[in-house]
Amino acid sequence: MVRVSRPPHGGNVYAASRELSCDVRDLLDFSASINPLGPSPLVWKAVSKARHLLRHYPDPECWELRQALARLWQCDVEQLVVGNGSMELIHALPYALNLHHLLLVQPAFAEYAATMARVGRRVTGVSAEQGEQYALPIDRLLRLLRARATKSHSYDGILLCNPNSPTGQVYDATDMMELAQAAERRGMWLIVDESFADYCPERSLLPRQGRFSRIVVLRSLTKFYALPGLRVGYAVADAPVVELLRRHVPPWSVSAMGQVAALAALQDQAHARRSLQFIKKERARFAAGLAVLPGCTVLPAYANYIFMELPRKWHAATMAARLRRDGLLIRDCSDMPGASPRSIRVAVRSRRDNDRLLRTVADALRQGPA
Ligand SMILES: Cc1ncc(COP(=O)(O)O)c(C=O)c1O
Repeated sequence: MVRVSRPPHGGNVYAASRELSCDVRDLLDFSASINPLGPSPLVWKAVSKARHLLRHYPDPECWELRQALARLWQCDVEQLVVGNGSMELIHALPYALNLHHLLLVQPAFAEYAATMARVGRRVTGVSAEQGEQYALPIDRLLRLLRARATKSHSYDGILLCNPNSPTGQVYDATDMMELAQAAERRGMWLIVDESFADYCPERSLLPRQGRFSRIVVLRSLTKFYALPGLRVGYAVADAPVVELLRRHVPPWSVSAMGQVAALAALQDQAHARRSLQFIKKERARFAAGLAVLPGCTVLPAYANYIFMELPRKWHAATMAARLRRDGLLIRDCSDMPGASPRSIRVAVRSRRDNDRLLRTVADALRQGPA
């Protein structure tokens, strides 16, 4: 049996509440990047109205939700598969697409590599460089695709996240198209995790996905629509590819309430507009506050989180532990290949919460890491 330890993720408020003997509501979770305005008010109404559905199995086809998504993305309903969070679909990828060796743009969400390792498959990391502000290493990727013809370079796919988590960098549409064309020509998969793309819709590959047969775009209702507890994500791909993925998603994996909530969330365009306006303004204010902390370096941010480096004498784990004692959870990124031991990621929350984090980090920096 292959033993692979579970990678750490942000958002584990349950472990923190047990450790600190406090209620989940007493914590400020900056480690998972969830829309601070919360779910649309339409979600609460829809879920409450659909209580009678708890007595039935959920629709295994997610039919209504897929219809709504097909209208949204102007694609065929057969090009959509819904999962129990995009995580379920990430787990299905190696089997469904028969992936044996993935090129992974790093630093990256830890689950991509863990999923491949769990089933004994290979990953080769292609690091975005800190010195280049973690820009997409497009030239290296294209070189690797060209070298694929040799037996020692047997990649069958590229996986990247746009906007990237944890770095928060967004990739240029021209580069993404070039990559898509190069992958398609060589019969390779291009998997793009767009879990945070609602924050920069103009960079999404989705409007152009239909031109390619080997692109899989993953989306999530967790982040922008603030439904992490309900677990809804989906993939858009060519219909035969979607069929392969569907075979690896267990029946009824998306709950009735998840489907109802997702449908309502997608319909509330006013809430979506409010959320985008809020994040844009508050992200700039919060990033400016973090950037003036002595010795800290803050990267430009395009989603609802900020990636930054602590001063030299600090380690990310030390700061994370220090803040945790005060009930503030941040993502220590020091364990992510391609990140530095001083890298952390913090979500953009409400103005008040962000100010509390700024004050607490400033205090910790004044006192020093010891
Ligand atoms: C980049 C990225 N992709 C995918 C996921 C999985 O999200 P979900 O399963 O909630 O859709 C996460 C969760 O943290 C993530 O950060």
